[in-house]
Amino acid sequence: MKNGTIWNDDEGTPIQAHGGMILEHDGVYYWYGENKGAPNASADGGWARVDVIGISCYSSRNLRDWHHEGVVLAATPDDPKSVLHPSRVVERPKVIYHQPTRSFVLWFHADNSTYTAASVGVAVSDSPTGPFKLVRSMRPNGIDSRDMTIFKDTDGVAYLFHSSDWNRTMMISRLTDDYTNLDGFHAPSLIAQSREAPAIMLRNGTYYSVTSGCTGWDPNVALYATSSAVIGHWRLIDNPCTGPHARKTFYGQSTYIFTVGDQPYLMLDHWKPKNLQTSGYSILPITFTDDGMEIAWHDEFNGI
Ligand code: DGJ
Repeated sequence: MKNGTIWNDDEGTPIQAHGGMILEHDGVYYWYGENKGAPNASADGGWARVDVIGISCYSSRNLRDWHHEGVVLAATPDDPKSVLHPSRVVERPKVIYHQPTRSFVLWFHADNSTYTAASVGVAVSDSPTGPFKLVRSMRPNGIDSRDMTIFKDTDGVAYLFHSSDWNRTMMISRLTDDYTNLDGFHAPSLIAQSREAPAIMLRNGTYYSVTSGCTGWDPNVALYATSSAVIGHWRLIDNPCTGPHARKTFYGQSTYIFTVGDQPYLMLDHWKPKNLQTSGYSILPITFTDDGMEIAWHDEFNGI
């Protein structure tokens, strides 16, 4: 699979799973993402967007051959008040497994076409391939929320990372034990640093975040930050990208870090705002040296 381009599924159809993530469950990898498989719609305020189609899911055993499992959380054209109405914005879906109830919980950025609703949506399913049922949407703890991710710690406690305060500050909000709500405990990180597109990982007791700057669909410099606790003292360290186009994140933007064995991988979106459905993907291995986190460009990702 050529990094930076759109990839095809096992039927030769372009994969529509942008702003996505990969979850491993019982030996199967599930790739969830935004289905943007339609021409751009006109947008209020000049934001390029595609009418909401829903969240797609693809499955694979080798991270190379992807089978389309369908749209697992679909738009609701008949309900203009729903956060899933086609006129809205549904971005950056992230799914975690809730072991005690054997259910899958999906969080996503729920917004309007001018990004002023700044909310999240939560949906659940008893199967990784859906269908997911919307259980709530809200502003987390009453705070605005745009780009977001979910991180599940080794103790099973999960957190929502969300760009807040008009994207100035990355808020970290703890989920309830059932993962479908927030328990109220939250704290800011990267205060007034204007970071978005968060992706989180844990290595040797240190938590890492990779984020982008806030330049709409245009690429910018990624930065990683570290902390000894999820809700803790996060410090921005450096740009993890190396080599040509490192200061543009290889013309991509972070969306998720998944790990296979001990190897973490960063997923990138390569946005094409003039025709969002043609936006590409990359998966790049993350390495660590004495100097810290490094991400080099690789022309291809061919699975495991
Ligand atoms: C940057 C975000 O990272 C994307 O998910 C999307 O919300 C665009 N901004 C919209 O301009």
